[in-house]
Amino acid sequence: MTDSFRAYRVHDNGRFGEGRLESMTRAELDHGNVVVRVAYASVNYKDALTARGRAKIARKFPLVAGIDLSGTVEESADARFRPGDEVLTHSFGLAVDHDGGYAEYGRFPADWLIPLPAGLSLFEAAALGVAGHTAGLAIDLMQLNGLRRENGKVLVNGATGGVASIAIDILSRLGFQVAALTGKSEESAYLTGLGAAEVLDRNAMEFGTRPLEATLWAGALDSVGGEQLAWIARTMQKNGVIAAFGNAGGVEFQGNVLPFILRGVRLIGVNVDNPLERKMAIWRRLATDLKPRHLERIARRIAFETLPQAFEDLLAARARGRMVVDFALR
Ligand SMILES: NC(=O)c1ccc[n+]([C@@H]2O[C@H](COP(=O)([O-])OP(=O)(O)OC[C@H]3O[C@@H](n4cnc5c(N)ncnc54)[C@H](OP(=O)(O)O)[C@@H]3O)[C@@H](O)[C@H]2O)c1
Repeated sequence: MTDSFRAYRVHDNGRFGEGRLESMTRAELDHGNVVVRVAYASVNYKDALTARGRAKIARKFPLVAGIDLSGTVEESADARFRPGDEVLTHSFGLAVDHDGGYAEYGRFPADWLIPLPAGLSLFEAAALGVAGHTAGLAIDLMQLNGLRRENGKVLVNGATGGVASIAIDILSRLGFQVAALTGKSEESAYLTGLGAAEVLDRNAMEFGTRPLEATLWAGALDSVGGEQLAWIARTMQKNGVIAAFGNAGGVEFQGNVLPFILRGVRLIGVNVDNPLERKMAIWRRLATDLKPRHLERIARRIAFETLPQAFEDLLAARARGRMVVDFALR
């Protein structure tokens, strides 16, 4: 490996931090016993918040941003991994209190590394990344809570986002009838191409105020939060299942209990920070029965140097699907 390499690091600015493209040295690698040559790292909403210092996420400075990555083992002091092994990792404090994926090399504890599951390429693993893992986990939890395709339609809110795009693809593969709710009606063809049966335009929607609205959904995945999550709860059918995983539209949630006590609506929180075994089980599903069919359409390769623009696009809700830093792209 080279002594110095490209990295996007967040530095202390007295507030939540400020990121920049720079180079770092081998001597600066974070703690761990396995060095990985990073091939791909995806761009997530949380990365944009960290990189632009919009939220208190970074817990050490400087911090290599990037909450997920896939790559090849370069050096290992752990018997489970050998040079050349293909791996992926995310969570475990990556890009929070341990360096993350936006560097050509990273050092990580072996306990955090997931061998690339059979059925996924390194690109596919990063194209899925935390977003795909979240979509897979949400659907797994919804199924455990009774969601079946014969129950009715499933709403995916924040539809053009990374998690939501992948969720639409997976749900349609599983035979669900998917309704996509988006603020970008011009992306209807993209959403139907992923498998959405109908596209709802957020800007033309009436969210209403009644404690219970007409029932519409057997299931719902929500990236947005705020008043939209409250509306979703009020429009769920009996025993409907909501997976709430995002706050792209705000952290407030002002609802009422009637959907829960009169309709048995189940509101499930989704958080990807789970023990390695649980993570690996979801990754195995993502490589098999939950593998999206349109990842090449959802995910776009970008050059490392274009990361700052990618963050701006995500924060402005201009981005569609997933962006994946390809370190080989110049
Ligand atoms: N719980 C977890 O473990 C976990 C894991 C991963 C992600 N997340 C969270 O899940 C959410 C989605 O993540 P992502 O990576 O899919 O993000 P993303 O690609 O930025 O997608 C977010 C989407 O939400 C919609 N949106 C609606 N109102 C918005 C607003 N005011 N500002 C920005 N976007 C708005 C937009 O889609 P439309 O225009 O199509 O509506 C946007 O594309 C984020 O809040 C993220 O932090 C949570």
